Amino acid sequence: MRIAFVYNQKPKNFSWEMPDAEFFAEFDPPETVEGIKRAIEANGHEVLMVEADETTYETLKQNRDKIDLVFNFAEAVTNTEDREAHVPMFAEILKIPYTGPRPTVAGIILDKTKCKEIWGFYGLPTAPFQLFFGADDKINAKLRYPLIVKPNSEGSSQGVKNNAVVQNEKELKERLAEVAAKFGWPVLAEEYLPGREFTVSVIGNGNNLETLPIMEFNYENLAEGVTKVDSYEAKWLWNHPANKIEEESTCPAKIDKALEEKLIELTKNAFTTVGCRDWGRVDIRLNQAGEPMLLEINCPAGLQPNPRVHSCMPIAARAAGMSFEQLVGKIINTALKRYGKI
Ligand SMILES: Nc1ncnc2c1ncn2[C@@H]1O[C@H](COP(=O)(O)OP(=O)(O)O)[C@@H](O)[C@H]1O
Ligand SMILES: [Mg+2]
Repeated sequence: MRIAFVYNQKPKNFSWEMPDAEFFAEFDPPETVEGIKRAIEANGHEVLMVEADETTYETLKQNRDKIDLVFNFAEAVTNTEDREAHVPMFAEILKIPYTGPRPTVAGIILDKTKCKEIWGFYGLPTAPFQLFFGADDKINAKLRYPLIVKPNSEGSSQGVKNNAVVQNEKELKERLAEVAAKFGWPVLAEEYLPGREFTVSVIGNGNNLETLPIMEFNYENLAEGVTKVDSYEAKWLWNHPANKIEEESTCPAKIDKALEEKLIELTKNAFTTVGCRDWGRVDIRLNQAGEPMLLEINCPAGLQPNPRVHSCMPIAARAAGMSFEQLVGKIINTALKRYGKI
């Protein structure tokens, strides 16, 4: 098949020290882009490389007769709240099949509150929360501290700093203002879940959903006094190949059958009710009582080909005996099947 691989690459001068590094956190380094391209080719496909920017629509339009499927790995064309919907919308307009959710759902997935509202409607558990639209919003008295404050429409732990957990109203207001200054309103505050954290990768559609082995984050390796969450610092600054936090995660997670079944069912329901397609990764954390609560769903999920770089879905695939190439091939085939192309 002829696959248009649409991606975002980090700017050439990118460094974690640059002022707007957080905005580019989800864009990929050239090695990742190249690695995914090679994985698509290893499945016998021809690849058209398309960087996601304002010219992408034209590129896709000019090549539409030569494209069987867009492998949508892009985060954005420009930095807007609906940025993950940009490329799916191009593909919709041009009637080119593409991987992952349709634009509406891609937009919802990026909006943590909208997801929580949908899941809540279907009775799926998520932490109690409040979405703040401004500094003067009245705080819901039913919320119980500690709370965690995070941008509503970011990913990759952007804005979830080591200081994200707040103990009282004063700290809450400070943190809301800090996050809003960087990412804008609205800002999400939700009850802090003190339990274990898991992420579950899922591939498929409809009744044909498959989960990969469950991964658990190991926060006990974080330094004393550090908040036990996958914060921006934990994910990006304290953990890269040159400064590896050993055993950052365990996959398959060491959990009993009952919890495993609960997590798998919750993941499948989270995926289906929100209307996701083909592939994704669901983040889940346990509350005080040990009950799993949904945090968010990611699609596209991170795919780092380098086994020395921590990357949840490829790790889960390896735990299932699946190579990186096989994982990429499976995502593509899932979408091709959905379109009746194979
Ligand atoms: N309610 C919560 N309780 C405890 N930790 C949380 C909560 N929400 C988020 N976190 C922590 O912050 C990390 C990032 O939050 P998440 O909602 O997954 O956003 P994203 O991954 O899109 O940045 C999570 O992996 C988790 O460690
Ligand atoms: Mg997450």
